[in-house]
Parts: sequence; C-alpha cells; structure tokens
Amino acid sequence: MANFPKDFLFGTATSSYQIEGAANEDGRTPSIWDTFSKTSGMTYNGDTGDIACDHYHRYKEDIGILKEIGVKAYRFSIAWPRIFPEKGRFNPKGMDFYKKLIEELLKNDIIPVVTIYHWDLPQWAGDMDGWLNSECINWYLEYSSKLFEEIGDIIPMWITHNEPWCASILSYGIGEHAPGHKDYREALIAAHHILLSHGKAVKVFRDMNIKNSQIGIALNLTPAYPATETKEDNLAAKYADGFTNRWFLDPIFKGNYPVDMIELFKKEIGEFDFINEKDLSIISQPIDFLGINFYSRSIVKYKEDTLLKGIGVEGTGKKTDMGWEISPESLYDLLKRLDKEYTRIPIYITENGAAFKDIITEDGKVHDQERIEYIKEHLKYANKFIKEGGNLKGYFLWSLLDNFEWAYGYSKRFGIVYVDFETQKRILKDSAIWYKEVINRASIVF
Ligand code: FCB
Repeated sequence: MANFPKDFLFGTATSSYQIEGAANEDGRTPSIWDTFSKTSGMTYNGDTGDIACDHYHRYKEDIGILKEIGVKAYRFSIAWPRIFPEKGRFNPKGMDFYKKLIEELLKNDIIPVVTIYHWDLPQWAGDMDGWLNSECINWYLEYSSKLFEEIGDIIPMWITHNEPWCASILSYGIGEHAPGHKDYREALIAAHHILLSHGKAVKVFRDMNIKNSQIGIALNLTPAYPATETKEDNLAAKYADGFTNRWFLDPIFKGNYPVDMIELFKKEIGEFDFINEKDLSIISQPIDFLGINFYSRSIVKYKEDTLLKGIGVEGTGKKTDMGWEISPESLYDLLKRLDKEYTRIPIYITENGAAFKDIITEDGKVHDQERIEYIKEHLKYANKFIKEGGNLKGYFLWSLLDNFEWAYGYSKRFGIVYVDFETQKRILKDSAIWYKEVINRASIVF
C-alpha cells in the first residue's frame, strides 16, 4: 500500500478536438486538424473529430461522470477556432461554452485546469503558414490574453502548450500530425515559435497580475536508454534525449538550446538564423509548475547514416495497444532527473495512461485489468518519488473518455470510460471504478 499526500491532485485529462465534436457550431471555424483529418490517408479509416464524443452537447453528463469518479481536477483544452474563428475576431458564443463548462465543474467542486493550445490551430492561421510564421506568436498572444481577461482568475492552473514536440516536430518534421509536413528546418522553426509564444504568454499572464492562478507548460518527455553500454549506443541515446527532451527542457529551464543538438541539426537544416539572442530569456521566464506527459521510454542503437545517429529498438517489456513498451520505472528515472538537473518547482503528471483493446463483455461491463495495472504501476513509482522528497503534486489520467486519437482515429481506446461512438453511450470501465477508490482513499494497494 502507498499513500499519497492529502492535497495530491488526482484528475483526468482530455483535449478539445479529441472529444468535443460540434465542429461547425456556434461560430467555430475549422482547425488544421479538421483539414488534416479530411485529407485522404491521414487518419485511420478517414476518421475525423466532427462528432467525436459529442462532449459539446453532453458536457453535463460528462461532468456528472467526473463527479461520480470523484476526481479533484479536470484538465481540458480550449478550441482556439471557437474563440477566434477569424483573424482578430473574438467569438463570445464560443467562449460561452467554456464558461458554462467551468461553471458546471466548479458547481461540482472540480478544479478546472486549462490547456490553451492542444494542437487545434485555426485553419485561418494555418493558411498563413501556421507556426512557421512568427506572426503566429502574436495571434496566440491575442488568443491567450483574451482567455486570461475572460476567465483568468477562475482557472487556478493554466497550461500554455500541450507537448510542443508533437506540435512542431511530429507535425512539421515527421508529418504524422497536422499540417503533415516533412521538413526538419520547418520543425525547428515551429518549435522555436511555440516556445517563444509560451514565454511571451507567461509574461502577459504576469503583467495582467491574475490572482490565485498559476501558469506552466506540459511537455511530453520520453527517457532514452542505450541498447548496449557501448560508447556509440550511449551517444545515440544522448541524441535521442536531446531530440525529445532537452530541446524543450533546456530553453525553458536553462535559457539555452543544447549545443550538441545545434551542431547535429545544423548539418540537416543549415543556420539557426530564426533564433534571436533575446528569445531565450523570454522562453526561460520562470513558470509556476511543470507538466509532464509520460507514456513510455525509448531504447536506442547507434546508426551512422541517420539524422540522430540512432534508431529505436524494441524493449522487452509488455506493450500497450499503441505498441508502446510499458516502463513505469522510467517515469521514476525521469522524475529524479528533472529534480536533479532541471527544477524543484511543483511537477504534475499532466498525462499518463494506456490504450488497450477494450471490449464490452456479456455483463455489459469493460474489464480493463491491464489498464488498472498500468496506472497502478505508474502511480507506484510516482509515489516513490514523492516519498523521497520529490515535488510531485498531481496526476491527470489520460483519458476520461475513449476519444479521437489523432492519426489513429477511433481505433485506440485510452479512456477509463468506454464510449460507444454509434450511440454515444458511456460505460465506466473497471479502471474508472478502481480509480474512484484510489482517489477516495488517496492510496494505491498492491
Ligand atoms: C499525447 C497527447 C494526447 C493523447 C495522448 C495519447 O501525446 O497529448 O492528446 O493523444 O498522447
């Protein structure tokens, strides 16, 4: 048995495009994800977020479920194209939806945690080159300042960006996410603009002097381990770490980009002339907390003729339905490292969870024992970190509902609540019932 501090924030997380649906309602215009998902071959089965979990219409029912599970906090994101459907035009109707959602959460004693940007960039911004255009930083600031003005002080925790690595590298470099480009120079420009927009939004937030509210960012961090102890594999692991983790952690916490990665990337992308000296002091604005999204680890083997001098190899551990190796000890390694090398500000696990092939059995239930094991093991290591003095303050399970899993469409189920996408019926999986007990006792039993 492991106990958590009484004030440990147990929550769940979702994002707008993945659950809301109502793609054309109350003045919302398309985001780059509407366009991307409607482009042939970009998502599994051509799935889109047009309807998703229909949360826009069912938010009360969903908050009822949160209440039933007993979560203390709920992390959700705001759809930018609902708030600014056109460049420079604020849409009060779009804002109203979030005001009603927040009111309902507060009525049920659930703390609202808001992600400002979880990838649904308005298509109008996408049409002007999206995050490749440094103007996008100003559009983002107009949008975030408006949110601070409208609901700043009723939201205790603001997250500027969700996973800048995915919004830049996976989207502009690897091409798996919207807008689906495959150019590493673009990827690093987008990453820089996203980081800069983060720093600038933090500044605006401070200048507006918003009371009783904190601001941070959510990074997806994947610890990289060498396949063997050779010098080469160690180097490959160091680069893999630089690619996913240090490229974002270093500017935020140390005010510089990692030199070894600059040298490596230069060969591929040329000069870093899109970075100005003063940018880094903006990006490294002090933040109040760090959010980390953790799912798995990577194991890397040296390979000369690749950008990162390495390729991933399969681990021996069990895998989730995403094919991601289950490695809860790596969460512990990561937390320890953050504590030692980067920061002692409060850390929140802003996402952790797993997709499995869930089925409804004859009893009408979903017995997702594997998910329970996954969460329990991760909480166990999170708890170990806390017991050793680590400053971990909360855990947001990804996800409340089965939802639109980006390029995988509806083929991957991450929810602790099953969604029948035909009927929109919700069924609490065993994991939801188990999580309820965990929250209620503030402990896990193993
Ligand atoms: C993360 C995303 C989240 C969800 C999970 C499975 O990268 O932030 O939206 O898709 O992965």
